[in-house]
Amino acid sequence: MKLFTSIFYLIILLASLLSYCLLKKEKRKQKPTAKLPPGSMGWPFIGETLQMYSQDPNIFFASKQKRYGDIFKTRILGYPCVMLASPEAARFVLVTQPQLFKPTYPKSKEKLIGPSALFFHQGDYHARMRKLVQSSFSPEASRKVITDIERIAISSLESWSNGQVINTFLEMKKFAFEVGVLSIFGQLEKKYTEELKENYCILEKGYNCFPTKLPGTAYYKALKARRRLNRIIGEIVQERKEKKMSATNLLGQLLNYKGEMGNTLSDEQIVDNIIGVLFAAQDTTASVLTWILKYLHDDPKLLDLVKEEQMAICESENGEKQALTWSKTRQMPLTYRVILESLRKASIISFTFREATVDVEYEGYRIPKGWKVMPLFRNIHHNPEYFTDPENFDPFRFENPPKPNTYMPFGNGTHACPGNELAKVEMLVLLHHMLIKYRWELVGSSNLVQYSPFPIPEHGLRARFVKDI
Ligand code: HEM
Repeated sequence: MKLFTSIFYLIILLASLLSYCLLKKEKRKQKPTAKLPPGSMGWPFIGETLQMYSQDPNIFFASKQKRYGDIFKTRILGYPCVMLASPEAARFVLVTQPQLFKPTYPKSKEKLIGPSALFFHQGDYHARMRKLVQSSFSPEASRKVITDIERIAISSLESWSNGQVINTFLEMKKFAFEVGVLSIFGQLEKKYTEELKENYCILEKGYNCFPTKLPGTAYYKALKARRRLNRIIGEIVQERKEKKMSATNLLGQLLNYKGEMGNTLSDEQIVDNIIGVLFAAQDTTASVLTWILKYLHDDPKLLDLVKEEQMAICESENGEKQALTWSKTRQMPLTYRVILESLRKASIISFTFREATVDVEYEGYRIPKGWKVMPLFRNIHHNPEYFTDPENFDPFRFENPPKPNTYMPFGNGTHACPGNELAKVEMLVLLHHMLIKYRWELVGSSNLVQYSPFPIPEHGLRARFVKDI
């Protein structure tokens, strides 16, 4: 009996030992073998935020890339981040494996724009909204509004040439806002445009401020303006519904939407997406236009060549100025390359943010779930391996297409900019009229950069416009 008991205990002991070893092996198997990318996380919580913001952020990124390579870790604003400075890594996150990374914005900003705006989402809802936005800003749609864009461009330029010094960036913002409103709503009553402008301005001021709801603060005022925008856009929506207007502009597309089950979009989804598009369209286009003026001013020979190209379009009209057409905007190869090069050199969207939704392994490195991931567009656009002599402004480099995935001023993959065609066309139209009829001189110009939050020339590039008789 004693022998049986001993054998029994021995078997139990051996079985426990065996399962312990197996479990340990299994655990070792599950334990991630890949290491975190190189880099430094800085101080607890704040990480390297101060280093990044106390100097030009581009210098911060470039020095890190030089020290650690194309993939490195850091901690910014309390978040652990992995920065990616190679075209392949950016493509992995944005194009080939976007389902592993979700868009990520602070809740305070999401509240101001509206949580249903497409760029906060991924998956099915994002795809449906994106289709609507994309078709509203496609080349075909932009072609239809070209005459209206031209009217806005001509009247903007007239208003700048009264002898006063203008803040170029602020004036370009007004231009881009009007084009944005046009392509979202089509023709809109002046009272609505004014109300939208006034409240959108307040909203914008609060966007980059500390998000406190204390009365009197910029964020508090922005939240109140956001509620007023709901009401204003709600009224426009109601009117369009009553008039049963079928239109190809964004509002028309949003109103006509019918899902597979016949469901329509809620008013909240419509308003959030309209404000989201206005937000995405205005400062981006205005910053790039401001840089174009600076780059052209700094290179008189290039300016003459671009003017020549634009004058040739007028000459082909046999002395009588005719409206710009889509096909005429396709006859501006040098002006177009100036736009492409300005987008590269200024790289106004220096990077974007995503968040890893699971533990991800890339090139032998581990990106833990919850970490922020930042493809660094500017570093790629300024890498001499992809763009020779990258600090030199040279539109002729675009006579040959850039290497695949090295040129991403409009992003890449599932969230790439659906407004890029409209942005390029509105820039071409404004530049055409500016170059054939106006000269501009810069006032107190310097080479300093200001962040608004996009980089723009200091003081928004103060300039005086003169109309050539
Ligand atoms: C020169 C001007 C512009 C630049 C440089 C620009 C750049 C970008 C970039 C880089 C992204 C991708 C961001 C990311 O992946 O996180 C983006 C997205 C977006 N842009 Fe633009 N953009 C410009 C003008 C416009 C215009 C004129 C519109 C609308 C009319 C617009 C609407 C959007 C929207 C709605 C998104 C979000 C797309 C999505 O999440 O699926 N953008 N833009």
